[in-house]
Amino acid sequence: MSSIAPCESHTQSQLDFPIGWFSVARSRDIGKGEVQRVYAFDRELALFRTREGKAVVLDAFCPHLGAHMGVEGRVVGETLRCPFHGWQFGVDGACTEIPYCDEVPERARVRSWTVSETNGDIMVWYHPNEEAPGWDVPMVEELCSDEWTDPQYWEFTIPNHIQNIAENTCDPVHFQFVHKMPDTPPSEITVAEDGRVLTLVADAKEAVHPNTLTVHMHNPGLAIVRTSYGPGAEMLVYSTAQPTHLNETHMRWSLTVRKEIVDFVGDDVMRGIKDGIGDDYPIWEHKIYRAKPVFCKADQSLVGFRKWVRQFYV
Ligand code: FES
Ligand SMILES: [Fe+2]
Repeated sequence: MSSIAPCESHTQSQLDFPIGWFSVARSRDIGKGEVQRVYAFDRELALFRTREGKAVVLDAFCPHLGAHMGVEGRVVGETLRCPFHGWQFGVDGACTEIPYCDEVPERARVRSWTVSETNGDIMVWYHPNEEAPGWDVPMVEELCSDEWTDPQYWEFTIPNHIQNIAENTCDPVHFQFVHKMPDTPPSEITVAEDGRVLTLVADAKEAVHPNTLTVHMHNPGLAIVRTSYGPGAEMLVYSTAQPTHLNETHMRWSLTVRKEIVDFVGDDVMRGIKDGIGDDYPIWEHKIYRAKPVFCKADQSLVGFRKWVRQFYV
């Protein structure tokens, strides 16, 4: 009698959301007094910008009767007013006012997420046990320097877990097979003394435009990618991510180049990067997560990544 092995389920669900900073919007996409619905970490959230300009992220559902405050909620001064019965919630998530009652119940509050508005993104800190941030979002000088172009922005959604997308950066072999590079660029991974920031340097001397790529990954989904084509000919991609579901991640990229080289790389490079993502897409869309992959001797950078990434889970 023959038996057929059951199909491996198409899931990344062995992984939780990692600890770290994740973007939920672009700063420029939410003005003072505006409210947005946000979906991240498999939760409904309400993002608003107070009249004074502070970006605030609250759990979306009102503790009163459960209305979604990111949908039809209104900004009133420094608070968000629920659309259903007008209860108002401050930046710390506590109810400050009930328009038809002079007593606010103690329990009338929602979770307020820790926000950092840096490098043009609104970032929130995620920790499954709600612990305080363990580090800051790094400042990227190039994004506000006169010597670099105004950033170009690009956003796209990938049907895969955030860790698998981050892992791709530490996978030089796939450049050859997926992105049709002539060979696998020699690459090296190092981890900062405190163990947290991972650096990958890849020396793509055989590429059409020979370059050195340097990636600093601060947590899965938060990476600064610098490409140097020679002295003064540099490009930067700042990449942040919004894990929406365990199997879906929304990416936000800001790209800037040194003004000297904008005419000959700016648009071409952006197009090249977009095409590159197109190459990765079918792989990401269909792959599963291997908790214990079979690695070969030449897979050191992937092994390094897997060791590094463990610290982002409890
Ligand atoms: S449901 Fe929000 S005020 Fe009633
Ligand atoms: Fe790729």
